[in-house]
Formats: sequence, C-alpha cells, structure tokens
Amino acid sequence: MHETPRRRPPRLIMALTRTTNQHMAFERLPGFRDFYPEPLPQADTASADARQYLFDHWRRVARGYGFREYDGPPLEPLELYTAKSGAEIVGQLYNFTDKGGREISLRPEMTPTLARLVAAHERHFKKPIKWFAIPQLFRYERQQRGRLREHFQFNADILGESDVAADAELVALLIDTLRALGLGQEDFVIRLSSRNAWHDFFASRHGDPAREYEFFQVIDKLERDTPENNRDKLARLGFKLDDVSAFISGGQPTQELQAIVDNLAARGLSDYVKIDYAVIRGLAYYTGPVFEAFDRQGQFRAIAGGGRYDNLVKLISGGKVDLPALGFGMGDVVLLELLKDRRRLPAFKPAVEVFCLVEEETLRPASLRLVHDLRAAGCVTDYFLTPAKPDKQFKRALELNAKYTVRLCQAPDGSCQARVKNLATREEQAVPPGEAAAWFKTALG
Ligand code: HAM
Repeated sequence: MHETPRRRPPRLIMALTRTTNQHMAFERLPGFRDFYPEPLPQADTASADARQYLFDHWRRVARGYGFREYDGPPLEPLELYTAKSGAEIVGQLYNFTDKGGREISLRPEMTPTLARLVAAHERHFKKPIKWFAIPQLFRYERQQRGRLREHFQFNADILGESDVAADAELVALLIDTLRALGLGQEDFVIRLSSRNAWHDFFASRHGDPAREYEFFQVIDKLERDTPENNRDKLARLGFKLDDVSAFISGGQPTQELQAIVDNLAARGLSDYVKIDYAVIRGLAYYTGPVFEAFDRQGQFRAIAGGGRYDNLVKLISGGKVDLPALGFGMGDVVLLELLKDRRRLPAFKPAVEVFCLVEEETLRPASLRLVHDLRAAGCVTDYFLTPAKPDKQFKRALELNAKYTVRLCQAPDGSCQARVKNLATREEQAVPPGEAAAWFKTALG
C-alpha cells in the first residue's frame, strides 16, 4: 500500500514544546504503570525489581520444562483479533488506523500472534512445539483491582499434540511456576473444567448451535453477576439457572479431565487441582479442557487462565495449517497482589558487590582502570563519578549495600596498593591492584 507520511510542521512542534515547558506537567495515562527501582517513591508506583523477579522465575521454570522463548510484534492487524478472540476482548482493543491506512491494534493477548507465527513456518519446527513468551499486553478495560490497561503476561503453549498428556504438562507447569514463587496449596488452586462437557450439556438440552458461544459467555460471567440477571440471561437462551447450577455442583469429571487429574496425581500435584465447571473461559477459541488459577480464599481475580484451542491455527492460517494447540496466560498484576498479600516477595535492594573509593584525585585514572577490570571480571562495581569527600563516598557504598569497598593507596615506596574492605566484618586487607579482579572473583564466588 502507498504510504503518505503526514509529518507535523516543525513550527507546530516548537509551539507544543514551549507550551509544555511553561504550563504542563505530564502524568501517565490511567491504567498504565511507571516502573521504578526500589525503594519506590510512592505507593501507586510499580516495582521494576518485582517485575524482573517474576520474569526471572517465569523464564527459569519454563526452561526447566523444556520450553523455548519466542516473541512477536506489539502491533498486529486488527483482523487478527476481530474474527478470532471473541466479543469481550474485541470491545477492549486499543486499535487505530496507521499512517499507511492500515487497521491495526496493540496486542490484547498473545495467542493469535503465536498461532500466526507457528502457522507461517510450521514445517520448520519439530512437534510438539513448546514455547513461552512474556509480552506486554494492552486492553482498554475499566481500571479496577487486578485489571489495568496494560499488563505483562507469561504465556506457555504446546502445539502439535492432541493427547491430554499435554494438558497435564501445562497445568503442572502452571502449578510449578506458582510454587517457585513461594506459593503453596494453601494459597492457590487450579480450577479445571471442559468446554466439551459444556458443549454436551448445551447440545443435550437442545440449545441453538448458533448461540453456543453466547451461552458460554453467560456461564463465564455467572460468578460475577446477580442470580436474577443470570436467570434472565439463561432463560433467553432456553436454559434454567437451577439446571446449570446442578451441573456445576455435580462436578463429575469427564474422561479427559480424569486423565489430566491422574497424570497430575502421578507427579504428586493432585492437591493443587479441582474439577470446577463454573470455569469455562471468556475467549471464543477454546475447544477442550480449560482451567483457571485462583487464590484459595477467592479474594482476587484469576491469576492465570488457559486451555485447548485446537481450531485456532487453522482459522488464522486460512485453513493451510491444522495443529492442535493449548496454553495458558498468567498476568503479573494479580500475581503481584497475591505475593504481596502473602508476604512472599523478597526485599529488593541494590546489588552492588564492590564500591571503589577514590580518595586521591591523582589516583582517579588508576581507579578507573581498576573499576573497569572488576566489571570485566563480572563483579558488579560502582564508584563516585566526580570528586567527593571520602566519608560521602563511603556513605554511598553503604546505601548501595556494597559487599566490599576497594581503594587505591600509594605505599611509602611509591608503589600502588588496593585496600579491600569487607563491609560485613569491616576487615581490611591489601591486594596488589593487578590481582584485585581475580581476588574479588574468588571472594564473591
Ligand atoms: P486471559 O484469561 O484473558 O487469557 O488472561 C490471562 C491472565 O492475564 C488473567 O488470568 C489475568 O491474570 C491476566 N490479565 C488479563 N487481562 C488483564 C488486565 N486487563 N489487567 C491485568 N491482568 C490481566 C488470555 O489472554 C489467553 N490468551 C491465555 C492463553 C494462552 N490461552 C492459551 N494460551
């Protein structure tokens, strides 16, 4: 398509800047977060350290299960979502027309992108494909507890395997991810359900096949709506709330759900799951077993959700590639609320290992060389950029929780010495400057 770039005239940019400088202090958009290193400046700011802590755990556990990391673009063609994700998410899209006239959207979820990526090069990859990603996602939602307009979401998916062993593997990964973060069976539960079971329920009561997804959406909202509204919505589809409630409380596992539970029991994980047909998932594309992770006390919104979506790759590839698939997404927002509430987050402190004190400006060039050597040896090293009194420098070393200080001194014979101080024991010793990097490598393990 022909591009017609519309550039803002330079004079207008200058005017805007001047107005900005003189009158406006910008604030972040509602539903978005500013991430600061700890300690945080204000209660409503987010912790970049906590975010990194989650990412590290997500990556480590996923890799431990043999998953490989992938990513895609944050902007996608609008149509990728309008046809495939379902009405709810489409109502929340951050979409616009770009300067080339394309209808595009910020990604509200990762699954259609994954389906697109896999379908584009399906033959290139051995099956089953086990991939994970940590995208930032954007949904124009009403800002409320546990729901923002952007969030980071750990996605883990398996493509090319139709056996329920894959469903069990994913649920196990979900459980182990939460366990790695210090949460136990007293903290969370995986509610396991099945779109197949609901499909059979719907068909056995002669529901109109064209309105099945509408029915699924009513089930998805049951716990968040009033009984009166639920009764009315179900009646309009020809169903009775009592019948639906009886099916949910019956909770009889289907054969496939029993196979998943047995597989998890073999790993010692059965106490983390329960069959719960109140879960059905809001997104349109799910086809088989579905699940959601919640805190045990039901205080928070869903920590994670996922399931099988065996038709999505075919839909997105225009029928060219047909691969069974399943996965889950775990957001950072609810998870952090839960971890904070249960006091399972560590204290995040600066991680400086060595702070170099420059007490004599004549020694600054040699000190810079030392700092550089230490960094090259893999030691986290910091120092004062400009001349400062020794006690001010030492105070900064303490503020940064440095494990050691190192300072160069001139010995009476004119030679240079590195004096190393362990800030825990306050013991000091001399090390030849040329050996300092090796010394710290050993001392810091
Ligand atoms: P989802 O249920 O829409 O599923 O989102 C998964 C999780 O992301 C939720 O349980 C919640 O923790 C978090 N989340 C969703 N929206 C928000 C929001 N506005 N603010 C904060 N957190 C949020 C999906 O997105 C599927 N694509 C997951 C999937 C992957 N299914 C198969 N593979």
